[in-house]
Amino acid sequence: MRDFRQYLSELEELDHVCRVAVPVDPLHELPAVQWQIEKQLFKAVVFEDVKGYAGGTAGNLFLAPLRTGILPTVPFMAEYTTLFAGIRKPGIVYPLWSGNDMFIDMYREIESTVMSALAHPIDPVAAPSEWTLRYSGRDVDLIRQLPAPWYFREDAGPYLTAAVTIARDPESGYLNSGIYRIQVIDERRLAIMVNAKRDLLSILYAAARSGKPLPVAIVTGVAPEMLVAATMSVPFGQSEYGVAGALARSPYVLSQGDTVDLPVPADAEYVIEGYIDAAHRIREGPFTEYDLIASQITESFCINVTAVRTREHPIFHSLVCTSLEMVSLIMPLGMTELAKTRTFLKSISPNVKDLFMLPGVPGTGLAVSLHKQSSSEPLDILRGLFAFSARLKRIVVVDDDIDIYDPFDVQWAVDTRVVAPRDLLVLESTGELTDPARVGDFSVKTGIDATIKKGHAHRLSRSETKWMEEIDLDRYVGGATAESAMPVQRGA
Ligand SMILES: Cc1cc2nc3c(=O)[nH]c(=O)nc-3n(C[C@H](O)[C@H](O)[C@H](O)COP(=O)(O)O)c2cc1C
Repeated sequence: MRDFRQYLSELEELDHVCRVAVPVDPLHELPAVQWQIEKQLFKAVVFEDVKGYAGGTAGNLFLAPLRTGILPTVPFMAEYTTLFAGIRKPGIVYPLWSGNDMFIDMYREIESTVMSALAHPIDPVAAPSEWTLRYSGRDVDLIRQLPAPWYFREDAGPYLTAAVTIARDPESGYLNSGIYRIQVIDERRLAIMVNAKRDLLSILYAAARSGKPLPVAIVTGVAPEMLVAATMSVPFGQSEYGVAGALARSPYVLSQGDTVDLPVPADAEYVIEGYIDAAHRIREGPFTEYDLIASQITESFCINVTAVRTREHPIFHSLVCTSLEMVSLIMPLGMTELAKTRTFLKSISPNVKDLFMLPGVPGTGLAVSLHKQSSSEPLDILRGLFAFSARLKRIVVVDDDIDIYDPFDVQWAVDTRVVAPRDLLVLESTGELTDPARVGDFSVKTGIDATIKKGHAHRLSRSETKWMEEIDLDRYVGGATAESAMPVQRGA
């Protein structure tokens, strides 16, 4: 499998990388330049001179989902660049995509790659001994060793944002990897924010029950396939290493932790090792999340670091959380969460036809297509889904004559088929710690039943247009074809 550096070289060959030789400060300056390079040049960036650090920093690697590199069969085309470069509103990312045929085709292609990797993992292999990373010794000094950027001025401090955290469930032995935001607290401590319903949280609860500290490894500067696998919602019990291998179509290469008993990616630029005492929490945040809002301070877990190992002249991976790179990474997460949600919904109603995300802050909105058989079904679906998913905040259930891949069609159903407040469900349930509207442990969630109600079908169905489409226009306008028709000019 190619590593982080090889991936960067591939981008460089395609002229997708902008090199910055001017020295930059990782505190505020580097993220601001990175942000502007995304917005103005739509390129990846390599900062060659990060003030105070020997290595470099790279970012903006996956500006479009195709750049995650998991689709070698689909070329990185100019049309996709234009589509994604057009997403200009930070924090809200789907409007331009949804309803766009090119996006839907690409989505389907990525979805089948991701789902097939889940179904057919490839086992990892052990690295040859000469691959071992340099060990920096026991004198851990995170401030000096990690060029972690301080992104937004509202944030509490420097953060690792493109880091994969690896841990083993002490009860089942299952090895888990996921991406979590991690704040650098001081020379020896990190704080990691783990949301409800994450596998790592279950593992931390198991560690708390055992009364023993949980060994963890945090890696950054890894192969794109590993980042994608770690982002995906992989079933508890299945290792992300196998999924990364399947995405890359070759086994992932692992070496051994030095101060923790964990297998770690052998190609990582940085390996940070440590232990979490799951019984204790530490104040973490605020941190500007993918909705461009500095999320509230959380009581997060503290990692007591025991070792920092790096490759020679390591390249740190910086990811701005309100970026297209985040959007690309979160897409495979959304796909795997939709698959899980689909399975769950089957247990509530066999009449659910399909589901798809709604425009807005990623992951928060969902449209459900239902071939309704009973008037209680939409409400059951809404209640069940809000309990099932912490991330979902807004769900619209529509009849199966509505195209849920077209957000305007869903909006049409809401505008025409909803009688408020009868068809609205507002409830409190477990939400994500990053939800800005969260109150205490709860998020307020809104469900909309936009299906046609009994007795109203005659008013709420669309009038038939098929017979109109069958009109032979040539008979009326004598040879004027669709090609010769002039588009109507706005404001004309
Ligand atoms: C860049 C990035 C940052 C993320 N940060 C967090 C975070 O701070 N906390 C969290 O709970 N999930 C975060 N996630 C989502 C998890 O990585 C994701 O839900 C993953 O599937 C969790 O692993 P699991 O399937 O083992 O539960 C982030 C995802 C990405 C792509």
